[in-house]
Amino acid sequence: MQKKNTVLTFREAKQKGEKLTMLTAYDYSTAKLIDEAGVNSILVGDSLGNVILGYEDTVPVTVDDMIHHGAAVVRGAKNALVVIDMPFMSYQVSVEKALENAGRIMKETGADAVKLEGGHRVCPQIKAITEAGIPVCAHLGMTPQSVNAFGGFKVQAKSEESAKQLIEEAQAVEKAGAFAVVLECVPAKLAELVSQKINIPTIGIGAGAGCDGQVLVYADMMGMFSDFVPKFVKQFAKVGDAMKQSVADYIDAVGDGSFPAEEHTFKIDDEVIEKLY
Ligand code: KIV
Repeated sequence: MQKKNTVLTFREAKQKGEKLTMLTAYDYSTAKLIDEAGVNSILVGDSLGNVILGYEDTVPVTVDDMIHHGAAVVRGAKNALVVIDMPFMSYQVSVEKALENAGRIMKETGADAVKLEGGHRVCPQIKAITEAGIPVCAHLGMTPQSVNAFGGFKVQAKSEESAKQLIEEAQAVEKAGAFAVVLECVPAKLAELVSQKINIPTIGIGAGAGCDGQVLVYADMMGMFSDFVPKFVKQFAKVGDAMKQSVADYIDAVGDGSFPAEEHTFKIDDEVIEKLY
């Protein structure tokens, strides 16, 4: 029988050198499938904005959106540690606002942790939220909520100065109390070095195999989201193609009358029907 993953699972995995796995999900059915397959953690990412809601970026996503989808994921996930993203402007304005929104997300979804983007500038928020008893996953490197400030989705921390800054930010979020840190779109050798310099697990996305774990957007790795396929994505399946083919087969079967067949229908006594003519 599989055991519920907790922040202790994350800590022990880092100590033992065991790799952690995380995938996103945004609904009950997908969360249930991913959970049953044995992933350590499910992230209800604010990539919800792109993947499910059809926005161009994550900026428009609200706390209510995250709660609505987060609660559905929690209902589907038995063993995975469920982490919910705090959306843009739900934690940046003040420590009080961050604490209030993190509390709402936890109380109204039943999730295990929250995630927020940024380093030094959000350390007071990370400290206050963890001190309130809510585990926090940090997120450094290419932080999608700041896409407008970065001028697009670009690899981060390539210069000596910015690489040094990334290491310092990772050490700062660890000190503030984060139980893990996502490293997104940073050079692989730097992510490996960061992973050696901190005691909490690094979860990489576009950050190479030297991280302590990996995260991907499920729709990307299953080949379901074709608007944009980043370089770091490996498509482990072609679910999108299978879905399209099944719809085409359904249209054909309805058209030629082969669906529904007798086994898909319900019976009524002939005498009852005859009386109705
Ligand atoms: O929102 C999200 O899905 C994320 C992952 C890309 C780490 O933050």
